Amino acid sequence: MCGIIGYIGQREAAPLLIEGLRRLEYRGYDSAGICVISDAGKFGIVREVGKIARLSEKLIKHPVKGTSGVGHTRWSTHGAPNHDNAHPHTDCTGGIVLVHNGIIENYLELKAQLLAKGHRFQSDTDTEVVAHLFEEQLFKVKKAQSSDAAILAVARAVLSKVKGSYALVVSANVWDGKIIGLRKECPLVAGKTQDEVFLASDIPALLPFTKEVVFIEDGEAVILKPGAHAPLYKLTGQAVRRDAVTVPWDNLMAAKGGHKHFMHKEIYDGPASFEDTLRGRIYDENIDALLRELGLNRSKVKGLGSINILGCGTAYYAGLVGEYIFEHFAGLRTHVEIASEFRYRERITGPGTLALAISQSGETADTLAAMKLLKARSGVTTAGIINQIGSTMTRTTGGTLYTRCGPEIGVASTKAFVAQLATLYLSAFAFGRVRGVLSAVEYKSLCDGLVHLSSSMRMALQRFEPLAKDLAARFQNAKGFLYLGRHVMYPVALEGALKLKEISYIHAEGYASGEMKHGPIALIDEQMPVFAFVPKSSSVYAKTASNLEEARARGAKIIAVASEGDKGIYKVADHVFESPKSMTEWFDPVIGVIAAQLFAYHVANLKGLDVDQPRNLAKSVTVE
Ligand code: F6R
Repeated sequence: MCGIIGYIGQREAAPLLIEGLRRLEYRGYDSAGICVISDAGKFGIVREVGKIARLSEKLIKHPVKGTSGVGHTRWSTHGAPNHDNAHPHTDCTGGIVLVHNGIIENYLELKAQLLAKGHRFQSDTDTEVVAHLFEEQLFKVKKAQSSDAAILAVARAVLSKVKGSYALVVSANVWDGKIIGLRKECPLVAGKTQDEVFLASDIPALLPFTKEVVFIEDGEAVILKPGAHAPLYKLTGQAVRRDAVTVPWDNLMAAKGGHKHFMHKEIYDGPASFEDTLRGRIYDENIDALLRELGLNRSKVKGLGSINILGCGTAYYAGLVGEYIFEHFAGLRTHVEIASEFRYRERITGPGTLALAISQSGETADTLAAMKLLKARSGVTTAGIINQIGSTMTRTTGGTLYTRCGPEIGVASTKAFVAQLATLYLSAFAFGRVRGVLSAVEYKSLCDGLVHLSSSMRMALQRFEPLAKDLAARFQNAKGFLYLGRHVMYPVALEGALKLKEISYIHAEGYASGEMKHGPIALIDEQMPVFAFVPKSSSVYAKTASNLEEARARGAKIIAVASEGDKGIYKVADHVFESPKSMTEWFDPVIGVIAAQLFAYHVANLKGLDVDQPRNLAKSVTVE
């Protein structure tokens, strides 16, 4: 995800901006840039594709002098990772400079309006429209004012036109060196010393300079000024008083957002990853844009005969959830296969097959090889659900629907899984709408449900954490675990078992609960706890519950991920994660997996294991 830094002080800004950006490298990026504001108010912009080290080298050849400025690391979402798309961006006059983290959802519409008014664009980004909107607004006033009230009025007018999320840091050459920071749904934090003020998207960027920080909230603005002032306002103009807090973190802790491990942080990043992945791709008005990202259009989707999903590990399990939802909501025969199996057997693909790769890294050797095989077949269209921008797989598939969760550092995949589910819901619902399986009303109601899911995820995180910790203490010495689920919760059972084994080294099996009596029930005794997913909304709730009774009758301790208000579940379960109610059983995987992720995390943590880098595993499996 993009990183931001802003500075006004007395020291040369360029090295400071670079140092701040370096501290944000862990977020992942593909280009970087800074703008230094000279004492005469001139903007000196230097941008470079690739690593910050390259930007630093460029700055040696093209130094920019001044004691204030802004900097940015870009994780591409709109437009390729190239020089022109790198931030900072400017308007037609070059009098405005800005950096942005987030997504401007209505940028195409705004861009068309601005082009019609004669604006000239230099990039493919969504961000650049905001620079031109500032230009428009500044032109409206005869003589641009630099009072805080005037700057806020301009920002207010601009943002009233913008839909989406942002942390924006903007300066104009008529603002007497002031820099404004604006926030909606993307983090922004201000920092202060005796004679300097800073802005950043994240605390690590500030730690080399100060530990005194003020968190900016949604709908607020902060104006950095020479003389170490940084007053905070509501966008409406009303002053806000908020004391600075001292961050007790070292640099590594800061990168982990205060969590002990990256995995724990990334489990907590899940709701934001889910939201970011939906942004600008949901509801009727965005269906065409969504299909374009996948390299498809309406007529191609109507002509599809089947879908082949390929992936490995966690990505494969996300694909298994996809199989249920594509068949149900899009009426499309869907087959999911482990990429390493697909490679070495004959699979018949008919005309109108969509081959869909799922991968966090976009580099997994087996998935790549399987996609290459499919790409060579006639009648097959390829697309990817991928997290890593510019990865090899994105260049192999016809289109890429990016999961927008930023870099995942913990080896065990967590936030990528929920973002993969988000893309699968988005695509299945859109396909269903285009193919006439879903009515407009049904489609809209499913989209509403998706939008509300992230708040249920946040609630689940809060509720599940203490129980996951407690259960980890009780069960850390279990000899093995059986994970059970049915229907869409079956892949979640597989994923839950994978999480436990890969980081805690406890053997765990995931099973479709209906299969239990066909073999695994022989394993069950007091030493073999069962972790089961039994949401009340499930069409097979009663069947799963009776499978649990069978296990309990044989001495197994039962941990159930169930629904709030389900008193009956306590008759068959010893411990219950009470999930927030979900709109439909189809959304239960997104909530259920959180319980499994937290439980696995706490077991591994209690055992003192290397949670983020479990033995024998690599984050990106680039060999067969
Ligand atoms: C498990 C895990 C792995 C990956 C698998 C595929 O927590 O991380 O099972 O899911 O190696 O990796 P990607 O998604 O990068 O293709």
